[in-house]
Amino acid sequence: MPDIESLLKEKRTFKPAPEFSRQANWNKKTTAEYRKLGEKSPERFWAKMAKENVSWFSPWKKVLDWKPPFAKWFVGAKTNVSYNCLDRHLEGDNAWRRNKAAIVWEGEPGDTRVITYAELHKEVCRFANVLKAKGIKKGDRVCLYMPMIPELAIAMLACTRIGAPHSIVFGGFSAEALRDRLNDAEAKLVVTADGGFRKGAAFGLKATVDAAVEAAPHVDAVIVVERTKQPVEIRPGRDFWWHEEMAKASTDCKPAKLDAEHPLFILYTSGTTGKPKGILHTTGGYLTHVTTTFKAIFDIKDEDVYWCTADIGWITGHSYVVYGPLANGATTVMYEGTPTHPGPDRWWSLIEKWGVSIFYTAPTAIRTFIRLGDEHPKAHDLSSLRLLGTVGEPINPEAWIWYHNVIGGKRCPIVDTWWQTETGGIMISSIPGAVETKPGSATLPFPGVHADILDEGGKSVKGEGGGFLVLRHPWPGMLRGIWGDPKRFEETYWGKYENTYFAGDGAHRDKKGYFWIMGRIDDVMNVSGHRIGTMEVESALVSSPDVAEAAVVGRPDEITGTAIVAFVTPRSSVHPDEVLVGRLKQHVSKEIGAIARPAEIRFTNALPKTRSGKIMRRLLRDIASGREVAGDTSTLEDFSVLAKLRESDED
Ligand code: WTA
Repeated sequence: MPDIESLLKEKRTFKPAPEFSRQANWNKKTTAEYRKLGEKSPERFWAKMAKENVSWFSPWKKVLDWKPPFAKWFVGAKTNVSYNCLDRHLEGDNAWRRNKAAIVWEGEPGDTRVITYAELHKEVCRFANVLKAKGIKKGDRVCLYMPMIPELAIAMLACTRIGAPHSIVFGGFSAEALRDRLNDAEAKLVVTADGGFRKGAAFGLKATVDAAVEAAPHVDAVIVVERTKQPVEIRPGRDFWWHEEMAKASTDCKPAKLDAEHPLFILYTSGTTGKPKGILHTTGGYLTHVTTTFKAIFDIKDEDVYWCTADIGWITGHSYVVYGPLANGATTVMYEGTPTHPGPDRWWSLIEKWGVSIFYTAPTAIRTFIRLGDEHPKAHDLSSLRLLGTVGEPINPEAWIWYHNVIGGKRCPIVDTWWQTETGGIMISSIPGAVETKPGSATLPFPGVHADILDEGGKSVKGEGGGFLVLRHPWPGMLRGIWGDPKRFEETYWGKYENTYFAGDGAHRDKKGYFWIMGRIDDVMNVSGHRIGTMEVESALVSSPDVAEAAVVGRPDEITGTAIVAFVTPRSSVHPDEVLVGRLKQHVSKEIGAIARPAEIRFTNALPKTRSGKIMRRLLRDIASGREVAGDTSTLEDFSVLAKLRESDED
């Protein structure tokens, strides 16, 4: 893998500045102590964190119950996530936070809302009562299909208040994708909006929900936020306006005392085969994990203005736009629209306007901004920033250095955070006041996290070397399963090595024990930091009447990290031309959503297959990236296919 080579040549290091360390929530000393404790006993480390950072209604009887691969954390304890994110900031010594901004929101058109902790608490209670009035009970699943507006955070917290697990579906997904997720979770209610603003225009959501709910028999109510005022169909008895229901609801709603293992949310993510996996997270462990990591890694102070640019439809938005920040009583910024609207400096103008001090984004965004030119960030005063973070994919050292110099003004530490939908919270990251950073490396596992690198045979790679990234010990934010599919859970994550979580990423460890993540080793593509299964795109393509067969691979792309390339065999009656290319790209957008739209479609009259009929994606990847086809092709069924694919490359 050539990118490992280039990463390893990276020799630059950045020590934490003494001024930063002095004020840090976790300095070298505390971090070293926690590391030691976490190595000796993850249970004791996490129990300490759970006591310090989370409020419980009643204590646990046992920290960890581990019957591989099923973990229970803080067994028997009771808590509530919305209580931790809201009520506890309004009481006792914290009561001054009542009037602190919880959410600073800006819509794409420039409209703004600042919601204090006291206001947010009221709105959440109100919406929890709306949910109850619509028949939602503890354990019922509620689907949120919304733009980035404060009502999304309100709806999430309202769900947690009454113990109704939410399933958030990213607003860019199509009706078909939404329908499948509604049905898999058997969701009873959908919260949506008439639409949202993106790229200077209103997009719609309600019609998509209507189409999805048509074939989702468990849904009996849809609540619609009025955001854009575009006309939508309201079906009497099923559809309700958010503002009308809220006006009728009381602001009094006690947080349910929920078991630590009560389901908190389901979030669908791509797997290598078949349909998306509903990743299940539960209450107490997840809350402990995100609250602790947020405090330590983002070094949050009450004076900070924190902005994570992720959409709440992804795990980063769940854990580090909403739950981590609010549980810490922080001010979290939410922005509705595209980074480059109305101009390429929108993000930088937001940082200047709101005085953002901690900024967390994805390498793909950083690369986009590098290309747009330094003049845009330089036109703004970014001196409020004191800490930067990245997530979602490996960051190439050049992008890291640019981020450090141009955005961070050379004074902000960068935390490169490795984690997954499945891990719930950050697992490998620098601690900004304690750990020396190296551009391109996520540095060291968080205390209490037992990450390792194994070879094919399951032996830990000693000293410098690469292999498969694994986690050897359960952690509190660990997924508790795949919704409705315990077998798939066991096979996907626990099937490769015994009692060891298999992350599906390749990684390298250097002499100093630093981790360098190399990316997915399975057939999941990481496009702009979002995991997309090749299978899903292939199924979407094959569902077109024009397509006989399709294979999808990723090729490296400067901006998005990976670009989707589809090799398509059209039906014999269909003429492969540019019109068909356009039609197929459109078809994929409609079936799964625009994020899965192939960057390139190549026609071929046959796909390279092994004798057992498996598509040889490795070869397609080489062709798609313009590389010489390397490696063993002795199992290839039809050699002429390769030659033909290369020809199609040339025209
Ligand atoms: C990749 C996003 C390198 C990795 C939180 C992982 C990273 C997948 C990093 C999870 C990082 C995430 N460095 N790679 N700092 N962070 N990844 O589930 O391949 O959307 O397995 O969760 O993103 O993607 P997911």
